[in-house]
Amino acid sequence: MVEVLPANYFAELDPGSLFPDSRHPLELDVGCGDGTFLQRMAAHYPERNFLGIERLSGRIRRICRLAASQQLSNVRVIHLESAYTLSWLLPAGCASRIHLLFPDPWPKKRHAFHRFVAPDNLQGIHRALAPGADFLFKTDHEDYYTEATGVVDLSPHFTRLPWIPDSEFYPVTDFEQQWLDAGKRIQAARWQRV
Ligand SMILES: C[S@@+](CC[C@H](N)C(=O)[O-])C[C@H]1O[C@@H](n2cnc3c(N)ncnc32)[C@H](O)[C@@H]1O
Repeated sequence: MVEVLPANYFAELDPGSLFPDSRHPLELDVGCGDGTFLQRMAAHYPERNFLGIERLSGRIRRICRLAASQQLSNVRVIHLESAYTLSWLLPAGCASRIHLLFPDPWPKKRHAFHRFVAPDNLQGIHRALAPGADFLFKTDHEDYYTEATGVVDLSPHFTRLPWIPDSEFYPVTDFEQQWLDAGKRIQAARWQRV
């Protein structure tokens, strides 16, 4: 089953129990959308496990169809709020990488407080990552990029790293493709959890 349905949403979830091989490193795709990035990563890296977190049920259904049609045994998706999943449901230090790719930008000033990269959520990201693991962030939104990099760079719990080399497989996401087609500038940042 691709969709994760915890028996108890108030007990810590053992991510190892979700995959055929629990020894593989776990990568989280926070707000994974339609799941193209997730599915391509899982197909490319069968020796890693991937868990997508998404709050829209239509997108969850699409990911389940995709993963089943491609017989990807290393993809799972959970229909839940990212903040809760990172801060409470998953065990501390479970993730080898967290991808936050094109999170909703909340472009209006009065809505900007909804943006995911904020001190509270950063604590959840830090908690879920193993020491030395990476947090990867991409956006097309200039103001969000400035704000988010400001928040994470100020944190003593993260160290900025250069973006991953071009030679490393890192597929374009569904939203990224839209913004590239529209001629928008994409910015990316990567940090290591201290
Ligand atoms: C702009 S889309 C980007 C999707 C995908 N990462 C991509 O780049 O194609 C943002 C996604 O995050 C999901 N999302 C936003 N806030 C969320 C939250 N708090 N918890 C889970 N999913 C969330 C939205 O439903 C949406 O699918």
